[in-house]
Amino acid sequence: MKLFIDTANLAQIEEIASWGILDGVTTNPSLVAKEKGADFKETVIAMCNLVDEVSAQITATEFKEMKKQADEYHSWHKNVVVKVPMTVEGLKTLKYCSSKGIATNTTLVFSVPQAVMAAKAGATMISPFVGRLDDIGVDGMELIADIRQAWDHYNFDTQILVASVRSTEHVRRAATIGAHIATIPYNVFKELPQHDLTDKGLKKFLEDWEQVKT
Ligand code: E4P
Repeated sequence: MKLFIDTANLAQIEEIASWGILDGVTTNPSLVAKEKGADFKETVIAMCNLVDEVSAQITATEFKEMKKQADEYHSWHKNVVVKVPMTVEGLKTLKYCSSKGIATNTTLVFSVPQAVMAAKAGATMISPFVGRLDDIGVDGMELIADIRQAWDHYNFDTQILVASVRSTEHVRRAATIGAHIATIPYNVFKELPQHDLTDKGLKKFLEDWEQVKT
């Protein structure tokens, strides 16, 4: 299972990358907007120098422009994954990128039919947004389980990337369902290594060790 961080903040990426378990980064225009003053292209290239897969979202909405943006982002660095919204124009862009060998991540996926269409268009990854489904009273992880079930019937190469993660519980369920990737916000990432019994157990081991030493 791959673990990505969902942020546009370089310091956060550097910190989690230093743990040695970070596979990639996802960004979106809202996350980029939080990093006021940062140059988008320079930031994406800096991220690509830290991890192997960096999703950068195109902002055009018509195929002709989307295609141009996809080519441009792809030219920045070999680790750029072009993030494409799940629209009809997006499907055309995914197909184009697939024919050119450009890696893609389909964003804003909320249903199994959307997931299937993106896979048929040759998407490298699809991003179902679990937290935003939870927000409207629908269990987002059920969608991941449904997509996983559909994937087991076919031979799609498209990776299932659990996005809009809000909790360690989302990560637990992503792993047990068999999602290929989870993209995790910084605050949730910081919680992942922690367990009360680990802290308690380590405290006791160190106390006992002090007695051996004396
Ligand atoms: C990731 O690719 C998405 O952009 C992100 O997970 C969205 O998360 P949010 O619903 O918390 O904004």
